[in-house]
Amino acid sequence: MITAKELREKYFEFFKKKEHALIPSASLVPENDPTILFTTAGMHPLVPYLMGQKHPSGKRIVNVQKCVRTGDIDDVGDTMHLTFFEMLGNWSLGDYFKKESIPWSWEFLVDELGIDPGKLYITVYEGDENVPRDDESIKIWQGLFKKASISAGVADSSSGGSMDDKLPGDMPRIFPLGREDNWWGPAGKTGPCGPDSEMFYDVGKDGCSDACCPGCSCGKYVEIWNNVFMEYNKKEDGTYEPLAQKNVDTGMGVERTVTILNGEDCVFESDTIRPVLDKVRELADQKSDESERIIADHIRSAAMIISDGVVPSNLDQGYVVRKLIRRAIRHARLIGISDMFCSKVALAVINIMRGQYPELKDNKDQIISEFDQEEEKFTKTLKKGLKKFKDLVSKEAMSDQAINGKDVFDLFQTYGFPLEMTREMADEHDLSVDEKGFYEEFNKHQELSRTATQGRFKGGLADNSEQTTKYHTTAHLMLAGLREVLGKHVQQKGSNITAERLRFDFSHPQKMTDNQICDVQDFVNDAIVSDYDVECEEMNVDEAKEKHAVGVFDSKYGDKVKVYTIGNLSKEICGGPHVERTGDMGEFKIIKEQPASAGVRRIRAVLE
Ligand code: ALA
Repeated sequence: MITAKELREKYFEFFKKKEHALIPSASLVPENDPTILFTTAGMHPLVPYLMGQKHPSGKRIVNVQKCVRTGDIDDVGDTMHLTFFEMLGNWSLGDYFKKESIPWSWEFLVDELGIDPGKLYITVYEGDENVPRDDESIKIWQGLFKKASISAGVADSSSGGSMDDKLPGDMPRIFPLGREDNWWGPAGKTGPCGPDSEMFYDVGKDGCSDACCPGCSCGKYVEIWNNVFMEYNKKEDGTYEPLAQKNVDTGMGVERTVTILNGEDCVFESDTIRPVLDKVRELADQKSDESERIIADHIRSAAMIISDGVVPSNLDQGYVVRKLIRRAIRHARLIGISDMFCSKVALAVINIMRGQYPELKDNKDQIISEFDQEEEKFTKTLKKGLKKFKDLVSKEAMSDQAINGKDVFDLFQTYGFPLEMTREMADEHDLSVDEKGFYEEFNKHQELSRTATQGRFKGGLADNSEQTTKYHTTAHLMLAGLREVLGKHVQQKGSNITAERLRFDFSHPQKMTDNQICDVQDFVNDAIVSDYDVECEEMNVDEAKEKHAVGVFDSKYGDKVKVYTIGNLSKEICGGPHVERTGDMGEFKIIKEQPASAGVRRIRAVLE
């Protein structure tokens, strides 16, 4: 048996011997990149160094990075998919390249971990009109297999199974595949990227068909490691240019590797997840592999994300946490867990992961309390919502139609059912949901509540309305000021505006110092005095991302969004309203700075 801890340590030791410096995992919440919600791979936090900036720890780095990939959320429940996982990586920042990286991967897998090379299969980039087939990697791999007396034929890329270098009697071992499989990056629209070579372990079961080969998702070949040869930069116009330096970015999934090394076929058997699953099983009355895994996975991810300062909300990362927790709660009810359970499962996560990630230990009380609050909140409406859903199903089943957008929105608005949850439930009844109608309703509602607010103010409270508009604009300036003074990790977590004051929550791990408070105050007051134009443009979400607007990118806001720009200080997605110019807003003062919840601070401020 090998544990995750042992694997991490072996990996670190191995690469330290090869002169790599160990660096800690970065936060799950990207610090300098508004275009992604979570760190999905080890490369995100290292992009500036892949582009050529000097890393303080040198050119050879080793680490384990916390990653969240919610794109795979619908696959969770099978034996291999997780939304949170740990990725081991060794990095060359303009130092070594393929001829070191590939043999080191072999050495670690075969000599250190003792993997039978006969069970290893390799994929490489097949090439295209711009980039040639990765023959260099093929040669290096063939040399390594040869030394182990394993002939390594190369599959013909077009036909999957047959070989193009005709080694009689052998199955191909190296598979050239296309961009979908063997090209990594960039993380956003532009940035470092390149071909990769992936290592698969054959678990020994039958393939799904004669054409089954590494890259197939049937479970015969499990990807355990990926070496990316990052030598290109993707430009705005979609073309590639060589990077100033050649890098290597590798990623080995800890949970998967532990699972296969222990001869297990399900990632939930690995030692960093099994206790979480056991807790779920202990609390459940009924058995369902799928629901148990969904609950264990989602609570685990949510706990890890909360430990990085995110709280459940309707915004950005907070909304993802909310969806994870609410989906886990629904599945818990399906298997007979009827009492409060989230924090019990979260405690199992904290206990097993705290050694490697001390932020779990440091924020334990807040993590537990966030789970409790969210579960209490959702439990209040879940039962009634489920009843409403049942009625809808019988209605729609008769008419054989999608559940209509208004009803889906009502489930969201009144009962707190995330769209994805309703979709999943509808699917269980072979029904679909009218998502377009849901978004229309959502947008209409946004408009309505804005009109209602404005209408109310018009009825004799015009001054108040003007004042709240000023506070709206002030909130944008303050967010820009906080990001300038404290760093780009600061994200808005909520705000509440009355005619008298602005309350503003934002992510930041520590108390602000007096100096920082003064600096933010000065930033905002300077902006007011400079009397900037406040410009509003409508654009689609992709454009807003490209322009690095901050704010909510969730498609639930529909295609077009409004982006408000204040000079070169602030660019934010927002419904408005805002003042036309920043002058005449008064003098900005921060009255109070205090904690709001785990990793979230709250400021009260006024305009005088
Ligand atoms: N960035 C590469 C991956 O995530 C290593 O697979």
